[in-house]
Amino acid sequence: PTVESVIVAIDGPSGTGKSSTSKAVAAKLGLSYLDTGAQYRAITWWMISNGVDVHDTEAVANAASKPVIVSGTDPARPTITVDGADASGPIRTEEVTSKVSAVSAVPEVRALITELQRTIARGAETGIVVEGRDIGTTVLPDADLKIFLTASPEARAARRSGELKGADVTATKEALVKRDAADSSRKTSPLAKADDAVEVDTTELTLDQVIECVVTLVDERRGAT
Ligand code: DC
Repeated sequence: PTVESVIVAIDGPSGTGKSSTSKAVAAKLGLSYLDTGAQYRAITWWMISNGVDVHDTEAVANAASKPVIVSGTDPARPTITVDGADASGPIRTEEVTSKVSAVSAVPEVRALITELQRTIARGAETGIVVEGRDIGTTVLPDADLKIFLTASPEARAARRSGELKGADVTATKEALVKRDAADSSRKTSPLAKADDAVEVDTTELTLDQVIECVVTLVDERRGAT
């Protein structure tokens, strides 16, 4: 098959290996990579830094268009800046993690970030892997391949606390289940599996196995077109 531009949407809750898988698949296949969670985290960081109460929906909506968020899409070195400042460290703090669900539930925030994501995807000439919660359902409903990653809450919490270097697994699990519940139950574009997405349960799989599985699905999809 000819190697042509391909758009891959990878959705699922946190701790399923979305980021690691998406980056590795993009690197292997020579595609761009976009972490949409990082964009929601970046706008959340801006709100906190600028004294906006993240639970004041109107204040968040009014400020939503102020920060300039720029994502670098090289899977080997993904970057994110807010008003020109490197945000890759600050967006991973516990404070941002605990507040991002509130900010990302605001429709004005979603409309702006979704537009940004579509522009980036359209501009990716060789194709792109886009990871998030609503990519297959809302952002890129015409994606060539949609993957929905799942894993048991226990496996997800264990992976997350491993990443956070020894954080308490029970507390991590509670925070993660709470965030997924918020992300799944919000009115605007909740975390959901698209009808035509391929579901991959990663509970019993190694990262390499998940990557292999997705690469095979992309190759099959390319071969079929
Ligand atoms: O993938 P992550 O944990 O970095 O995402 C952070 C938050 O951003 C997540 O809790 C919900 C929100 N998010 C979203 O609403 N839509 C997306 N496409 C990606 C993330």
